[in-house]
Amino acid sequence: MSELKTVLNSRVFIFTTFLVVIWVSGTSEDYGSGYGDEWLYYFDDNGVRHIMNFSTIPKSTHGMSFGEIYFHLYTRETIDKAELITLPKNDDSIKSFYFNKSNDIKLLTHGWLSSDRVHWLQQMKDSFLREHNLNVITVDWNEISRNTFYPWPALSTRYVGKKIAKFIEAMQTSYRIGTKEWHLIGHSLGAHVMGYAGMFSNGSLSRITGLDPARPLFELPQMPDIYCLNKEDAEFVDIIHTAGGTYGYAASHGHADFFPNKGTPNQPGCQTSGTCSHGRACEYFDESISYTAEKGFIAYLCKSWEEFSNGNCKNEFSSMGYPASSNSRGNYYLRTKNESKYAEIDD
Ligand SMILES: *[C@@H]1O[C@H](CO)[C@@H](O)[C@H](O)[C@H]1NC(C)=O
Ligand SMILES: *[C@@H]1O[C@H](CO)[C@@H](O)[C@H](O)[C@H]1NC(C)=O
Ligand SMILES: *[C@@H]1O[C@H](CO)[C@@H](O)[C@H](O)[C@H]1NC(C)=O
Ligand SMILES: *[C@@H]1O[C@H](CO)[C@@H](O)[C@H](O)[C@H]1NC(C)=O
Repeated sequence: MSELKTVLNSRVFIFTTFLVVIWVSGTSEDYGSGYGDEWLYYFDDNGVRHIMNFSTIPKSTHGMSFGEIYFHLYTRETIDKAELITLPKNDDSIKSFYFNKSNDIKLLTHGWLSSDRVHWLQQMKDSFLREHNLNVITVDWNEISRNTFYPWPALSTRYVGKKIAKFIEAMQTSYRIGTKEWHLIGHSLGAHVMGYAGMFSNGSLSRITGLDPARPLFELPQMPDIYCLNKEDAEFVDIIHTAGGTYGYAASHGHADFFPNKGTPNQPGCQTSGTCSHGRACEYFDESISYTAEKGFIAYLCKSWEEFSNGNCKNEFSSMGYPASSNSRGNYYLRTKNESKYAEIDD
C-alpha cells in the first residue's frame, strides 16, 4: 500500500514538474502528448471532467447507443411547463395544445454530455418568450449525447438531425406552415445536429445559428461540407466563434461568422482554457435576444482580427446574435466585456 503511494506520489511529482516545464517553455502542449490534436479535457454541465478523445473514428457503429429524441414546446402560456410533442407513428397529424401557428418557431438544442435542461438553454428559452410571442421547441437528445466516448455522439448528430427534419416536415404538413418560420439554434455538437436538420430539410429553412460549433471530427480532420454545419444548410447560417481552434470551429463556415474577442479562448472573464469560452457563445446569444440591430453586439466586417485591432475596419457592421441581419456576409469582429452585460463595453 505505502509502496503504491510512493509510486503515485512520484508520478504526481514527475507530472507536475513536466507541467511546470511546459508552462515555462510555453508550448501549446500543456497537457501532454496529443492534447488539442487528438484529445481535450471537457467539463460537463456538472463540472465533471471528461476526456474528449477524437484520436480514432470508429469504423462501425457497433456499440453505439441510440435513444429517443424529445421535443418540448414552450409558449407564453406554458413558460415553465413543457408540452411534449410526439411524432405520430402513422401519417396522422401532430397534435399540440399550445402550438400557435401564427408565431415563429425557435428550435434549440444542446451539445455533448448535456440535455435540454441545461441552464443556458432554459435561460435562452425564457429570454425568447420574454421578448417575443413565439413557439420555442427544445430538442432533447441526451440519451445519445451522454455517451462519454465522444466519436459516437459526434457521428450520431446525423441521425438526430434527420429525426428533427422529419419532425419539421410533420409540423409543416400538420399545420400548413412553410420554411420561413423556422430558426434552428444549436451549441457545439448541437450546431451540427441543426446543420443536418437543415440539410435534410433541403437547405430551405430560414436560419440556423451555430453557437461555437464543435471542431473535433468536423473541422479536425476537415470533413466535407455535407458532414458539418455550413452555409448550404439554410437560407442564412450565422456562426458565433468563442473557442475557435480547440472545442469550436476555427474557420468560417457560415454566411456570416462572428469572432468576438478573436473568437478564440480565453474569452474575457474565463480563467482557464476549459469549457468556459466554449459556453460564452450561448451567453452572448442569450443577451443579444433583448438587443436591436442598432444597439448591442455591433461587429465589424474585416479581413482579420489584426486589421480590426489596428482600427482599420469601421465601415460595414452587423449586429452579432439574434438581431443579426440575414444579409450579413463574411467575417465580423468585436470585443466584449468580461461579464454580463457583455455588450456594454467602454471604448
Ligand atoms: C484515445 O483513444 C485511443 C484509442 O482508443 C487510445 O489509444 C488513447 O490512449 C486515448 N487517449 C487518451 C488521452 O485517453
Ligand atoms: C396566437 O398568437 C397570436 C399573436 O401572435 C395571438 O394574437 C393569438 O391570440 C394566439 N392564439 C391563441 C389560440 O392563443
Ligand atoms: C426535401 O426534398 C425531398 C425530396 O425531393 C422531399 O421529399 C421533402 O419533402 C423535402 N423536404 C422539405 C422540408 O422541403
Ligand atoms: C471584469 O473586469 C473588471 C475590471 O477590470 C473586474 O473588476 C472584474 O472583477 C472582472 N470580472 C470578471 C468576472 O472577471
